[in-house]
Amino acid sequence: MSDSTSGQIDSVMTEDRLFPPNAEFASRSAIGSMAAYQKLYDEAKANPEAFWDKLAKAELHWFKPYDKVLEWKVPNAKWFVGGKTNVSYNCLDAHLTTARRNKAAIIWEGEPGDTRTLTYQQLHQEVCKFANALKKLGVKPGDVVSIYMPMTPELVVAMQACARIGAVHSVIFAGFSAEAIADRNNDANAKIQLTADAAWRRGKQLELKSVVDEALAKSPTVEKCVVLKRIGNEVTMQDGRDVWWHDVMAEASTDCPAAQLDSEAPLFILYTSGSTGKPKGIKHTTAGYILWAKKTFEWVFDHRDEDIFWCTADCGWITGHSYVAYGPLAAGATVMMYEGAPNWPLENRFWELIEKHKINILYTAPTAIRAFIKWGDEHVDKHDLSSLRLLGTVGEGINPEAWMWYHRKIGGERCPIVDTWWQTETGGIMMSPLPGAIPTKPGSCTKPLPGVIPSIVDEQLHEVQQNHGGMLCVSHPWPGMLRGIWEDDARYNEQYWTKVPGKYLTGDNARQDDDGYYWIMGRIDDVINVSGHRLSTIEVESALVSHSKVAEAAAVGRPDEIKGQAIAVFVTIKGNAEPSEELRQELKLHVRKEIGALAQPDDIRFTAALPKTRSGKIMRRLLRDIASGNADIAGDTSTLEDYSVLAKLRDDEE
Ligand code: WT7
Repeated sequence: MSDSTSGQIDSVMTEDRLFPPNAEFASRSAIGSMAAYQKLYDEAKANPEAFWDKLAKAELHWFKPYDKVLEWKVPNAKWFVGGKTNVSYNCLDAHLTTARRNKAAIIWEGEPGDTRTLTYQQLHQEVCKFANALKKLGVKPGDVVSIYMPMTPELVVAMQACARIGAVHSVIFAGFSAEAIADRNNDANAKIQLTADAAWRRGKQLELKSVVDEALAKSPTVEKCVVLKRIGNEVTMQDGRDVWWHDVMAEASTDCPAAQLDSEAPLFILYTSGSTGKPKGIKHTTAGYILWAKKTFEWVFDHRDEDIFWCTADCGWITGHSYVAYGPLAAGATVMMYEGAPNWPLENRFWELIEKHKINILYTAPTAIRAFIKWGDEHVDKHDLSSLRLLGTVGEGINPEAWMWYHRKIGGERCPIVDTWWQTETGGIMMSPLPGAIPTKPGSCTKPLPGVIPSIVDEQLHEVQQNHGGMLCVSHPWPGMLRGIWEDDARYNEQYWTKVPGKYLTGDNARQDDDGYYWIMGRIDDVINVSGHRLSTIEVESALVSHSKVAEAAAVGRPDEIKGQAIAVFVTIKGNAEPSEELRQELKLHVRKEIGALAQPDDIRFTAALPKTRSGKIMRRLLRDIASGNADIAGDTSTLEDYSVLAKLRDDEE
């Protein structure tokens, strides 16, 4: 039977490599065996509320205990109902009575090489001062603070200060346009804007303040703007509206008790691009979010007190919220923060940082790993990376060959790799290996974390069999889940809870293999339908990336009269290779050999770069339009990182 009738997806990828955790690593892990993982998972599954009740009591500080663990009426969840707590208290104050008081909370390096370290006590003082400054500027609980700042410690201070007084932050990545800021400010009714004079990016100054000036001209709800002096370039300060960060801090007291907030008080809004239309303001709240961020951090990164943990994501993304600004701090970890680009001044900057600061855990994105591979091994070889003990990835599927490079070249074949699957909406990691417990397979996010109950269904809403792909859903609410789309309940319900009633629809496809391991197959909208067989983009792309000359690939479907869709691929080759007709034929045959005739690409285009979002995801939607010969690109392109890529791809059309 053709799979197109049921809506299942054919998997053509086989991956037999298995990497068990090494004995030394496992012996030191909190969860050090498959049996220990399974026991925890089963406990959570058997009685989720009892499981989370126990953890919430043990892990969080409560000003007032909650009355009820969960109130669940599809699609609205309330966790730890009636309780009072505070995220900033749990991240900072909680450590001040322990030896962690004098431990580094943040080790920061700016792009020019300047460094700063803040202990937990110092960070606490900065946060209290800025919280008082915000209060003085009129910020009340529930007010929205819009943040457009470079990756400096002050960005974390600002987020934590909002959390401390019950203000809701909306962090906007400091690469977005004035238009994008204004849209988000207006959607959220932002009251205060935080920014900096400028940010360093590849040796250039990004003039953040002038972008903000333009945005604020179109953001009528914003009353005040606080400006951090990062660089010292000339800026215009508007009288009555703009104030300097250092001025408001100079007069602020370090005494600011954390507000006693309801478990479900909104903590932040984070805008994520829908595939079309206007960005969605994903809403997260207090107690459930911080519990999720803390526990997933501890489980997945096997946290030890002596670690230096480096998540390379900007705080403008959910990864930077959960694994820079919140989760690690709640766990009392030391966080590395870096302001700039990975290739400044040279392509070895990450490896230099790891060697210099003796970083132990590196958490980065597949797009970065593919860039490192393209730049060449010589940049890595110059450095001693022996401090690393654990590696992670997030944001997209990782092609098995890129995984192998990461394992060999960066991990020295000694570090486990945690491929973490999750979303802005999920608040934190949902599926990932626990590095001391779960053997890894290149390209698989392996198993769900305790409390996560995945379900994969076809178009008829039946659970699919093993080795068939379908729509990935989550069956039971979890504490870190989104609580809605800001001021848009209808869209929330429509987007996540309607197509598969009663379950959270992730928008991704996935399959489980014979061992029950999960493989993410890409976005539902990206499936390619060839002669009635539904294929996943990542499998075709991974087959291409396994060729020694290919650095990066994106596969999309284009209309084809006979097959329904034909497969078009866009390929970036490594620095030492040349595009040619021969290589094109070679790649077609390579895919055919790796995964079969059905998946052999019809068109191959060589390109110097692929269109990506600012967080590094390939924008297959745009490539689909180009491959189909559509002159006009439909939908929202405001999240595109580099417009010139799009223009070039169009010019390259044969
Ligand atoms: C989408 C969510 C999660 C924080 C950063 C991105 C894709 C994410 C993986 C992974 C395969 C992945 C999914 C997901 N994705 N991690 N390990 N393997 N795909 O957050 O911008 O909300 O994107 O990213 O498609 O739905 P986001």
